[in-house]
Amino acid sequence: MKKLLLLYLLFSVSIYAQQDSNVTHNAEVPKMQWFKEAKLGIFIHWGIYAVNGIPESWSFYNGTISHEDYLRQADNFTARNYDPQAWADLIAESGARYSVITTKHHDGFALWDSKDGVFNAAKNSPAKKDLIAPFVNALRKRNLKVGLYYSLPDWSYADYTDKTKMEKRYKIAGEPERWRKFQKYSFGQMQELKKEFDPDLWWFDGDWEHTAEEWDVNGIKDLLTDNRPDVIFNSRLNGNGDYETPEIGIPVYKPQAKYWELCVTMNDSWGFQQNDKNYKSSQQIIDLFTDCISKGGNLLLDIGPKADGSIPDEQERILKDLGRWTKKHEEAIFKTDAGIAYEHFNGPTTLSKDHRTLYVFVRDVPKDGKIFLKGITNKIHRVYVVGDGTLLTYKNYYKVYWNAYPGVTYIDIPENVIDENYTVLGVVLDGEVSLFKEKTGAIESN
Ligand code: GLC
Repeated sequence: MKKLLLLYLLFSVSIYAQQDSNVTHNAEVPKMQWFKEAKLGIFIHWGIYAVNGIPESWSFYNGTISHEDYLRQADNFTARNYDPQAWADLIAESGARYSVITTKHHDGFALWDSKDGVFNAAKNSPAKKDLIAPFVNALRKRNLKVGLYYSLPDWSYADYTDKTKMEKRYKIAGEPERWRKFQKYSFGQMQELKKEFDPDLWWFDGDWEHTAEEWDVNGIKDLLTDNRPDVIFNSRLNGNGDYETPEIGIPVYKPQAKYWELCVTMNDSWGFQQNDKNYKSSQQIIDLFTDCISKGGNLLLDIGPKADGSIPDEQERILKDLGRWTKKHEEAIFKTDAGIAYEHFNGPTTLSKDHRTLYVFVRDVPKDGKIFLKGITNKIHRVYVVGDGTLLTYKNYYKVYWNAYPGVTYIDIPENVIDENYTVLGVVLDGEVSLFKEKTGAIESN
């Protein structure tokens, strides 16, 4: 009997040690803190492609429209109803903490009044003004972080290597001087953007067209971190960035990267396309968002304003619906860490900074009104409804005194607390969350 007891004690100590190592508080990279806590950003693809409502840049690159006809869209890019403060207000209302706007897409049309450029909203369109400056100011007024998207390729620039899929202008090895001319121009543009707008984040794109050496990624980073060592870069600098940018598809498994951001469209287009009505519902966007934060990432959700600067109704609706939900559940979303594995709860979760509160996101409440958590070793102090405060009852099953297996806890969710999108529960634990990782259940020997 004594022997058995000793064995049991040894067994539980080893399990305990294993459980403890589940909880890793990785040291944060200081400059990444705001990004990690922000969770939601709004991406904006705005450009002359909104005039005809065709794919941004790719439509002429792939030959569905001629380059000339594509560029001619600039004549009708009016920005007549552009209200940057209303944009920033809507973004803030959605709960987003930052926004990333296309200052220049692969087509080379700049939204700001670029001195180094030849093709921009102020000089070459009826908008006749710098469209980035007032938006950056409006974001800052709302305390939102500023991200600038900048395309490395510029398919319309006469000294850039590629024009379309079929038409290449030259090879760098053959005309290095010409490439240097292009670099002088694009470095000049980046310098302007830095000086005028001092962004918190640079979102590069199109790095696949050349190598890191050809782009001079080190030179770009030196230029942009000068006096601004805390500025953040996405990874589309041939992998030399601060965080990864999976696109469209949510990673099925938790990504290995410490920092990541899923960029995604609300319908199937980055820019405004009147014929694309294939919108996800607000519920589906919230499904995606909870999955992202549960896996420790951010969601960069795209909108595509029209050529007159108005935001399509469907997009505004989604941002407002998101806002209703994020506001109510703020404490479970922002400043949290990734949650626990889906084996422990059949849905998304997050953890408070101190890992002592587990937030559980319940999409649909089962018929019997109960959801359950598996293999949580902690004692539960209480369970409450986030954004409402109601205390909930819960009960543990399958726990036996002779084994460390913590059993299954059922939590009762009454109908009157159910949220139309996700009901969020705060599960207050007796310490940092501790998960049972043993392969076996309650069987010790047989
Ligand atoms: C892609 C596309 C581009 C889009 C971007 C957004 O790289 O080239 O059109 O702007 O992804 O992530």
